[in-house]
Amino acid sequence: SDRIMLGPLVGAIDQGTSSTRFLVFNAKTAELLSHHQVEIKQKFPKEGWVEQDPKQILQSVYECMERTCEKLSQLGIDLSNIKAIGVSNQRETTVVWDKITGEPLYNAIVWLDLRTQSTVERLINRTPGKNKNHLKHKTGLPISTYFSAVKLRWLMDNVDEVRSAVHSGRAMFGTIDSWLIWSLTGAKNGGVHCTDVTNASRTMLFNVHTLDWDPELCQFFDIPMEILPKVRSSSEIYGLIKSGSLTGVPISGCLGDQSAALVGQMCFKDGQAKNTYGTGCFLLYNTGQKPVMSEHGLLTTVAYKLGRDKPACYALEGSVAIAGAVVCWLKDNLGIIESPEEVEKLAASVGTSYGCYFVPAFSGLYAPYWEPSARGIICGLTQFTNRSHIAFAALEAVCFQTREILDAMNKDSGIPLKQLQVDGGMTNNKLLMQLQADILCIPVVKPSMPETTALGAAMAAGAAEGVRVWSLEPEDLTAVTCERFEPQINPEESEFRYARWKKAVAKSMNWET
Ligand code: G3P
Repeated sequence: SDRIMLGPLVGAIDQGTSSTRFLVFNAKTAELLSHHQVEIKQKFPKEGWVEQDPKQILQSVYECMERTCEKLSQLGIDLSNIKAIGVSNQRETTVVWDKITGEPLYNAIVWLDLRTQSTVERLINRTPGKNKNHLKHKTGLPISTYFSAVKLRWLMDNVDEVRSAVHSGRAMFGTIDSWLIWSLTGAKNGGVHCTDVTNASRTMLFNVHTLDWDPELCQFFDIPMEILPKVRSSSEIYGLIKSGSLTGVPISGCLGDQSAALVGQMCFKDGQAKNTYGTGCFLLYNTGQKPVMSEHGLLTTVAYKLGRDKPACYALEGSVAIAGAVVCWLKDNLGIIESPEEVEKLAASVGTSYGCYFVPAFSGLYAPYWEPSARGIICGLTQFTNRSHIAFAALEAVCFQTREILDAMNKDSGIPLKQLQVDGGMTNNKLLMQLQADILCIPVVKPSMPETTALGAAMAAGAAEGVRVWSLEPEDLTAVTCERFEPQINPEESEFRYARWKKAVAKSMNWET
């Protein structure tokens, strides 16, 4: 036949906040063969609320898988070469569904959502010394609107369908990975209800030391443990795909998207780090087999556990809520650009913010401040300021926020990073990458294959016991070719702008008083 002979292939579902993708890689060369992408709608039903339709998310996954399979067939590639599928997903986003009907009982509450701000304040007030870090020794996290437990609490308190399903033993809770794996492996006939350690570590119900759900944490949030998925490693066979062109293929990798990017960037050693620019921006620093608790506002999270018998590795994480989302805001809310890509040209046309600073604290501020009451501000405006300066200030904001988490990371680790590995959609913006190098005063390094999140999920799936088509032995990992951005402005100027940024941040936190 005229079919191309290839080695084993591995697929990856990358379900992010703004889009869903399915990508297929060659397991021997890590080469990307084909992919398909679908945009995902966010709903903003009230100020501060952010929701998505779990059925639409699932549908988008099926659509991406089917379209990618069509493209592969057109290339003459036999679908039976696909030996495994990995899942990587937006983390924390919370779904509750009915295990008998398979129907979600409410929209997914997206990680960025702020509706739980008063719940969070109430919970913090209940702790000794009103301490937001009260649960940090177990969870690695501050009590914040960001994590799943408070979203689940809100659903149980405010949605009748959720409450009664919990009482009648029909409710299942999951982050997006669990919702997808459960649906893809069986849907109405009962799929597999599981999650992996990386996703579990974002719920606030998970103990990062014991690597399991923690009864005391569940009690603190008053969450019944029966509705929680089973916690598994990030690389093992969870179940088989039950419908569509890939029926029968095992799902054997599962990682929160930021962990997946760390794996895809091959940051397997202590002290290696990556920053991913998506809807938000997330810097993860591998601390090896020990969970290190931050003294400077970073999170402790599970980085990966690549096999049932393999040790868990941990990371320090700096989370920034708004990165790519600020560019979407310029497009959708201000209408000053027509597509996200246009922001680069607009900002480059002036090459400076002209003293304008933009703190996009739309969802409060995450790391290192964890201040849910912060709100966005644009300051330093004059008669001269125009939309190009505001576009520039928006890009600079992404870079300043990264600088803040890098500073915190350097203080926690005591060993300053010498360069920053980056990935994610925004890294196509060369102006942004140059600005980032200028503001950090260290080189920024971008892999030539930017789909590191999907690659990480594919690696985990391909390496799983019972699949074993992808070797994670250091000598077998293909070296990534990179593009480098060297700092070009002098450090004094960089420091001056950064100091101004910090003043703007202080105002975003206190503008009401
Ligand atoms: O914690 C949220 C994060 O996982 C979302 O990632 O790429 O959709 O911004 P992204």
